[in-house]
Amino acid sequence: MTSDEIRRTYISFFEERGHKRVPSASLIPSGHDPSALFTIAGMHPLKPYFLGTERPPQLRLTSCQKTFRTADIDIIGTTTGHLTFFEMLGNFSLGDYFKQGAAQYAWELSTEGFGFNPDDIWITVFGGDEELGLGPDEEAIEAWLQIGVPRERIVECPRSENWWELPPPGPCGPCSELYLDRGLRFGDEDDLPGGDNERFLEYWNLVFMQFNQDPVNTLAPLPAKNIDTGLGLNRLAAILQGKDTVFETDQFAPLISLGEDLSGRSYGLDFATDRALRVLADHSRAMTFLIADGVVPSNEDRGYVLRRVMRRAILQGRQTLGLDPGFLGQFSDRVTELMAGEYPELAEQRDAIHMWLASEEENFGRTLDQGLKRLEELIARAKEQGEEGISAEDAFLLHDTYGFPFDLTRELVAEQDLGVSDEGFELLMEGQRTRARSAARGAGVGAAAREHAAALAGEAGFQTEFLGYQTTDVETTIGAVDSEREHASGRVLVKLVESPFYATGGGQVADSGYVECASGDCVARVDDVVRLGDDQVLAVIPERGEIEVGERVHAI
Ligand code: ALA
Repeated sequence: MTSDEIRRTYISFFEERGHKRVPSASLIPSGHDPSALFTIAGMHPLKPYFLGTERPPQLRLTSCQKTFRTADIDIIGTTTGHLTFFEMLGNFSLGDYFKQGAAQYAWELSTEGFGFNPDDIWITVFGGDEELGLGPDEEAIEAWLQIGVPRERIVECPRSENWWELPPPGPCGPCSELYLDRGLRFGDEDDLPGGDNERFLEYWNLVFMQFNQDPVNTLAPLPAKNIDTGLGLNRLAAILQGKDTVFETDQFAPLISLGEDLSGRSYGLDFATDRALRVLADHSRAMTFLIADGVVPSNEDRGYVLRRVMRRAILQGRQTLGLDPGFLGQFSDRVTELMAGEYPELAEQRDAIHMWLASEEENFGRTLDQGLKRLEELIARAKEQGEEGISAEDAFLLHDTYGFPFDLTRELVAEQDLGVSDEGFELLMEGQRTRARSAARGAGVGAAAREHAAALAGEAGFQTEFLGYQTTDVETTIGAVDSEREHASGRVLVKLVESPFYATGGGQVADSGYVECASGDCVARVDDVVRLGDDQVLAVIPERGEIEVGERVHAI
C-alpha cells in the first residue's frame, strides 16, 4: 500500500462512518496560541472544539494533518521511526462516541482495512498517576477485552507513555496505543510495548480527551468526553511496505537515492552515511513544508527552528557526504515532486522556497568554512593537551565572531568524545545580552538602571528643570552624582539642576550629547536619559576627569 493509498483508506474508512473530512491546517497555528510555535498534532487546529469555545461543523471529524515536532531532533536518523515533519491521520469525536467506539474503529481498520494479524496487535493503556489523582484506566481495559484482545496483550503504562496533552493550559487525557509486534528479529522475548525497543512499533494513539489542564497537574472536566486519535502515516507505511525503517518507504526512498546519486555513496553500509542521508531526507521535507507555509529563517522563534533544521541539513550534506553547494534546492524539488499532489502549496511556493534555501545555504556555508577550521584547531589542541573538552570561552568566541552555532560545536566536540560546558556558555551569553542592552542606548534602559536612577532622584530631593524645548545647550550645575549603582555597565548617574536633554519615552529615544566641566577638567558622554515622570536622570560614560556634585558644567 503506498502512502497515498494509506491516506485514502484511512480517510474514507471514517467518512463512511459519518466523519467529516477537514483539510490539513497550516504548520503555523492560527490565531494567538502562545503554547506552541508549530502545529504538533492532528487535534491541534481543532483545539477550540475540544475546549468547547467553538462549535465544530460536525461531531465526528477526520483529517490528515501536516505536523512538525522538534522534541526528537537530535536523534533523527538514528532510529527507525522518528521524524520532525510527518503526516498524522486522525479521527475525532466531539462528545459523540468515546472509548469503546474509538477502540472498535481502530481495531476494525487495523485488521480489516490494513490487514494486520490480530495476534500481532498489542495495546497499552494508562496505568494511573498519583500526581493527577487518577487510577488505572479500567474503562479502556474493558473496551479492549470486549473486542476480544486477551488481557496479557493489554499493558498498563505510566503517565510518561500513556497520557497526552497540548502544552497546558489545554485539553488532555489518558491514552491507549496500538502497537504492532514485528517479531524477534527486532528484539527479545521479554520486550513489551511502551518500552524502549524496536520490536514493538507504536502506530496509533487513541486519546480520551476529557480534561482541561490549568495549571499543570490540575484537571477540570471538559464540556464533553472527546476522542482524539493520531496515526503516523509514515510508520504505518513502513509496516505495510515491509520496510525496516520509515526512510525506505515510498515518501523517503527517492530522497535517499537523490543523496546517494549526489554523493556517490550507498545507503545501508555505514552509520554516518546513513544518518546523514536520513537527516537530509527528513529535514528537506520539513524545510520545504515550513517555508511553503510562510516560515522564513531568522534568529527568533519559528524562524530560528527552521534555520536550525536547515543548518543541520547543510552540515550533514557538506561535512559527511561532501555534497557540492546548491543541494538543498535539489532535495526540495524532489520533496515537491513527491508531495505536491496532496499539498499543492509546495508547487505554488517553489520560487520562494528556492530563494530561502539558496541564501541560507550560501551564508551558512561561509560561516561553516571559517568556524570549522577554527574548531578543528581547538579540538586538536584539546586532544594534544589531554583536556576533557574545549572551553566555554572558545565556544563563545566561535559563536560571537564566526556566527558558528553552539549546538553544532556541542555536537562536533561530542563526536570526538570531548565536551563543552553548557552552563559556561550560557553565562557568557547572558553577559553579552546585558552588554547589548546597555549599549542599545535610547532603546530604553533595563529595569535595574531605572531603579538606580529612581533611587538617586529620591536621594537628591530636587527636580531637574527640563529646558530642551527652548535650548540644546545649558550652563548649569551637577545636583547629584552616583558612580556606584551603574558601575557594572561603566556608567555614572548624574542629575543636573537644568537639562537640555529629552528623556526616553513616548516612543522616542533620548537625546544624546556631552556634559563638560566649566573648568575644562572633565567630559562625559550622555548615554541615556532616564525619564522618571516629569523628572530625569542622565546615565553618562566618563571620558575624562571626574564629575562631582556642585561642579559648574556645560550640558550640550
Ligand atoms: N494527539 C495525539 C497525538 O498526537 C493523538 O499523539
